[in-house]
This record gives sequence, C-alpha cells and structure tokens, in this order.
Amino acid sequence: MASHGYSALLNWHQTYGVDDILMNQPRDFTAAKPPQKNNPDPTKTPATVINFAQAADLADLARMMEEMPFPLKKPGVNFVFADGNPNAELMVVGEAPGEEENRLKLPFMGQAGKLLDQMLSAIGISRANENPKLGAYITNILPWRPPANRKPTNDECQAFKPAMLRHGELIAPKLILAMGGTSSNLLLGDDTGITRLRGQCKEIAFGSRHIKVLATLHPAYLLRNPLAKREAWADLKKAKMILEQES
Ligand code: URA
Repeated sequence: MASHGYSALLNWHQTYGVDDILMNQPRDFTAAKPPQKNNPDPTKTPATVINFAQAADLADLARMMEEMPFPLKKPGVNFVFADGNPNAELMVVGEAPGEEENRLKLPFMGQAGKLLDQMLSAIGISRANENPKLGAYITNILPWRPPANRKPTNDECQAFKPAMLRHGELIAPKLILAMGGTSSNLLLGDDTGITRLRGQCKEIAFGSRHIKVLATLHPAYLLRNPLAKREAWADLKKAKMILEQES
C-alpha cells in the first residue's frame, strides 16, 4: 500500500474511534470459512464415542454415563441414575430429573413421583419392594435436570438412547412402562403424540433382549389433567395383566 493509502486508513480508523488493535495479524473476514468439524453438536458426540453396550453391570453403566461429557452437566446439577429394585419385573422410565430429584439424587421424588407411587400401589407394586413381582425399578432418559425444568430436546434424548438400551438389557424386566411422550417416543421409536400413543405396547430390542414397552401418560400430565387418570388407569391394568402373564 502506498504511504497515502496508510494515512487514509489511519484517518478512517480515527474517524470511527478505533484506538486499539485486537490481533497482530490482519484477519480477512471475506475469506472462505474453514470447514466445520464433523460433529459440531456436543449432545451428539459422546454417544458415538462411548460404547455403552460394553457396560459390564449397572455400576459400570452409571459410571460411564456420569463421566460422559454433556452440556447439561453443570455445577449444582446432580447425576440421577435410578431407584428401586433392579430385579423387578417392572421398569419405569421417565423423562428427566426435576428440582426435587436433583436435590435428592433419586428419580420421581417430587409431586409427580408421589403420584407415580400411588399409581403403582394401585396395582400392588412399590419401588421399595424386594420381591421382583411386587417391586419396580425406576429411571429416566436423562440423568441430569435440564435448566428451569424445560423439556429435553430430541438430540439430548437421542444421545442417551444407547445408554438406555443397555440399561434395559441389564435390568431385563418383563415390562417397561414409558411415562409420557418423551420416553414413549424414544423407546417405541414412534413420534405419535402421547394421547394417541398411550396404551400401545410393542416388543423392542434392548441389545440382546426383547422387552415389552407400554406407553402411558406422565404423572405430571395427570396432575394438570386429572380427568386423564381414567386412561392412565386403563394402562396400569394392562401393565398388570402383562406382568401376570406366563413368560
Ligand atoms: N419427571 C420425570 O420424568 N422424572 C422424574 O424423575 C421426575 C419427574
């Protein structure tokens, strides 16, 4: 650049109030952008890197999940894995921990959890029962609470699907009760809205195991829509019938 060019550029900078430089080298903002990395979305990265199918047992699976890098992992957000009887014939899968679950590090502990316990007790089941036929094992798709209790995104749920498949395979229950749309859509691989999907039961492969998955309404939804308890009760009776069938 000729010297008059430099002084014109300096004048221009002064006119626009530029009094400092940020980089030693000029940056050409018109240049072509460098190619994006293959996997820019962090919620998609770990699931492809971590082989949850190799988790030897529940403790190993919990360790792998807890160590997985994930955007929801933040100070004050606790890892919530599961509760109940791991030998139970019934496994309950919810969406994600809420405030109370985050505080107590156990799933379904708040108002929705209390209603879930009542629903299970209506069919003679409780999470504390050590008898596999009368107990329940309870977990969620996501082990960390999304901020402000927002609904998990599809990417967040998909990132944990391989972990959920191994979780089901390790527990090997007779029936999985998928609570609400998030869990039912993910486990059944069906995007139908939960008010139409509820009551439907399909056998799904969890690794080497084929397990029946029954979609039902989430207790948090029932707290907001008490009239829907009638449908939830029909699903619970169906769950009981499946659990009582000869295997
Ligand atoms: N809702 C869920 O889906 N899971 C919980 O653990 C609590 C509320």
